Amino acid sequence: MKKNFLTLVSFMFLLNMTLMAQNPTLETIHQRKSVRSFTDQPVSVENLTTIVKAGMAAPTGMNRQPWEFLVIQDREAMAKLSENLPYAKMLKDAQAAIIVVGNPEKSPYWYLDCSAATQNILLAAESLGLGAVWTLAYPSEERMNIITTALSIPLPYKPLCLIPIGYPKGPQTPKNKWVEAKMHLNKW
Ligand SMILES: Cc1cc2nc3c(=O)[nH]c(=O)nc-3n(C[C@H](O)[C@H](O)[C@H](O)COP(=O)(O)O)c2cc1C
Repeated sequence: MKKNFLTLVSFMFLLNMTLMAQNPTLETIHQRKSVRSFTDQPVSVENLTTIVKAGMAAPTGMNRQPWEFLVIQDREAMAKLSENLPYAKMLKDAQAAIIVVGNPEKSPYWYLDCSAATQNILLAAESLGLGAVWTLAYPSEERMNIITTALSIPLPYKPLCLIPIGYPKGPQTPKNKWVEAKMHLNKW
C-alpha cells in the first residue's frame, strides 16, 4: 500500500516536472529566485531593453501606465548608493540596476501597477539567465529619499523599488512555496 502511494507521488512529481519543462512560462516562474551575488560579466543594453519592455507589458489600472524605468550601469554610482541602502548592499556587485518609478499624479494605483511591472522584470531577467532582486524603496520615505536624491529623480515621481541585475554567481535555487492548504477550492 505504502509502496503504491510512493509510486503515485513519484509519478505525479515526474508528470509535473515534464509539464513544466514543456511550458517555458511556468518554468521561468518557478525557477525565479532573488539573486544577491553576481559575476563580473556585463549585462548588455539589449538585454536591459528586453527586460524593461517586459516591465512595460504589465497590466495597469485603467491602462494608465503611470511608470518610468531608470536603468543605471555606472558601477561607481551603484557602489556609492549601496553604502546608504543597507538592504541593497548587493548593488555594489551588480552590473546594472533598474529603478521602477511611479507617478502618483497619473494614478492612485501607481504602486500596484509598478509592482506588476517589477514582477515582469524579475521574470524576464530569469528567462535571460540573469539574476535580480526586488529591493524595497516605497513605502519607506527614508529609502525613497536616498534614491531620488542620488539619482536626481524629480517630483512627483516615487521609486517603488530598485532592482540590482547581473549574472548569478554560483548555483542559486528557488524556494518551494507551494502550500496546498493555502488554496481554497470553491469554499474557504
Ligand atoms: C516588496 C518586497 C520588498 C523586498 N525588499 C527587499 C530588500 O530590500 N532587500 C532584499 O535583499 N530583498 C528584498 N526582497 C526580496 C525578498 O526578500 C524575497 O523575495 C523573499 O525572501 C523570497 O525569496 P525569493 O524571491 O527567492 O522567492 C523584497 C521583496 C518584495 C516583494
